Amino acid sequence: MRPTSPGTTSSRDPLSDSAAESVAVYSDHADDYAVDHAPKMADQVERFASSLPTPSLILDAGCGPGRDLARFTAHGHSARGVDLNPVFVAMANAHAPTSQCDLREVGSRFPAGTFDGIWACASLVHLREPETVDVLGQFAGLLRPGGKLYACLRSIGRTGWLDEPDGCRWCTVWDAEAFADAVADAGFDVDHVDRGVFVEVWATRRLIGSP
Ligand SMILES: C[S@@+](CC[C@H](N)C(=O)[O-])C[C@H]1O[C@@H](n2cnc3c(N)ncnc32)[C@H](O)[C@@H]1O
Repeated sequence: MRPTSPGTTSSRDPLSDSAAESVAVYSDHADDYAVDHAPKMADQVERFASSLPTPSLILDAGCGPGRDLARFTAHGHSARGVDLNPVFVAMANAHAPTSQCDLREVGSRFPAGTFDGIWACASLVHLREPETVDVLGQFAGLLRPGGKLYACLRSIGRTGWLDEPDGCRWCTVWDAEAFADAVADAGFDVDHVDRGVFVEVWATRRLIGSP
């Protein structure tokens, strides 16, 4: 049964592809999303961009309408976007080359070690925990050793279907330590963890052969 009040959770068919269903919902309010989120994450983007030599090749994994692609490009980097939502892909292409891709298959879309940085800003939120663990492993494969990862997802609230004014989407809430551990287990040294409503993990692709 769908919830009727904003910000509540409900159950649904457990066999549905909750990520794909959730991504599709963004199409109805894509322009509003771009406007509402335009001012966000500027400090984190600047910090990530500055942690890489210029120019570096950065994958914005789940780029949405492309706000951060534009920022990375303005910083002097080369950016590539992927997103599953076709409306966002079209919008993001105005800022940097972007293709439609499910993050659950992103490892097969580029050669291993292609990127110097992967930026995954709130894009893993609609995946189930095992899917996120798998995607983190694919990110590790796409990064050169020493490459940088930023990933943030929700760490406060309850996992389930979340009904908000702009639509109903699946949201997996992670324990912050468990998420940092999952990043480490995927082959990263965790450099820093910022904790809040969202947990933000800053990490470096471990050198091949190091423990
Ligand atoms: C909360 S929005 C964040 C967008 C953008 N990174 C930002 O910070 O504004 C989540 C984004 O991740 C994308 N996304 C979620 N699951 C995905 C998946 N499995 N494959 C590709 N994109 C996905 C959505 O389409 C959406 O653009």
